[in-house]
Amino acid sequence: MTHNQFLELLVSPKTGEPLKVADNGLSLTAPDGTVYPVLDSGIVDMVHPRELFEDDAREQYLYDQAYQRYDRGVSWVFETLNHSDEAATREFMIGLMGLKPGQTVLEVGAGTGKDSALIIDQISPGGTAVLSDLSPNMLRLATQKLQPKDVDVHFFLGNGSYLPFADGTFDSVFHFGGINTFSERKKAFAELTRVVKVGGKVVIGDESMAPWLRKEPTYEILWKANPLFRAEIPYEDLPATVENFKLHYIFGNCFYVMEYTVAAKAPEIDVELPIPGKDFIDNWRIRAEGSSK
Ligand SMILES: C[S@@+](CC[C@H](N)C(=O)[O-])C[C@H]1O[C@@H](n2cnc3c(N)ncnc32)[C@H](O)[C@@H]1O
Repeated sequence: MTHNQFLELLVSPKTGEPLKVADNGLSLTAPDGTVYPVLDSGIVDMVHPRELFEDDAREQYLYDQAYQRYDRGVSWVFETLNHSDEAATREFMIGLMGLKPGQTVLEVGAGTGKDSALIIDQISPGGTAVLSDLSPNMLRLATQKLQPKDVDVHFFLGNGSYLPFADGTFDSVFHFGGINTFSERKKAFAELTRVVKVGGKVVIGDESMAPWLRKEPTYEILWKANPLFRAEIPYEDLPATVENFKLHYIFGNCFYVMEYTVAAKAPEIDVELPIPGKDFIDNWRIRAEGSSK
């Protein structure tokens, strides 16, 4: 996919309407007049809302400050967690998508591109990687670090809760490490799922230490230092069209990573199906009466 074809693929992150690409290719304009500029770095600024909610604005600011020390810091954190092998664990996560050469993949919250490099490897040759983040400085570093061969890579600044793509655009979507702090997490899960084709794979992970460890002294030190480690797995934020859901704990059981495929519709519960025999009816009436006491 060429840069111009990528620009044509983008839609309004606010309404989903098509955008008009300027003749010079330096901006896109929505029907409501909102202009999304293409920055000097080639990164398209698709952030919505233009004035971010408080948590998103704070995270954008913090990562913009931390981008130079980020890679060093995050590797140290994983080392403290059961001396985890960061490279192997990241490979495991990317492996969950079952990517193939030539596929089109979106990564949200790509940061400095640590997982993006693995995604690019898996879809080579002929694939397209679309990499996004809310922090300009983090994403700019990713553009400098990644040296893709045989894969088209496109970058945009974006809020994971408002993705500028039509439904079913991607073979797979990946996000790791930021969703706990997104201002609109349920909306983000809906978006990360919406833009994947039916049958495509979604892989999402973040901090959440296994409940059976939370009272262990060293784990207590950890979540007191960073309360995000005590975040619950956000099952309730998942949309109804999730199929083949699996959960894994990684990095010393302090992070979760979930994988699922996208279904065309939610599973059906048929409450009209005739009950196969009076004996079942009697049995269930007794249960129902028992549970209502
Ligand atoms: C802990 S870093 C993870 C980066 C990368 N995925 C990794 O594993 O190294 C979290 C990233 O999420 C980004 N982020 C935070 N809030 C976001 C949002 N609402 N939409 C998109 N990205 C966001 C941050 O800018 C940051 O780069």
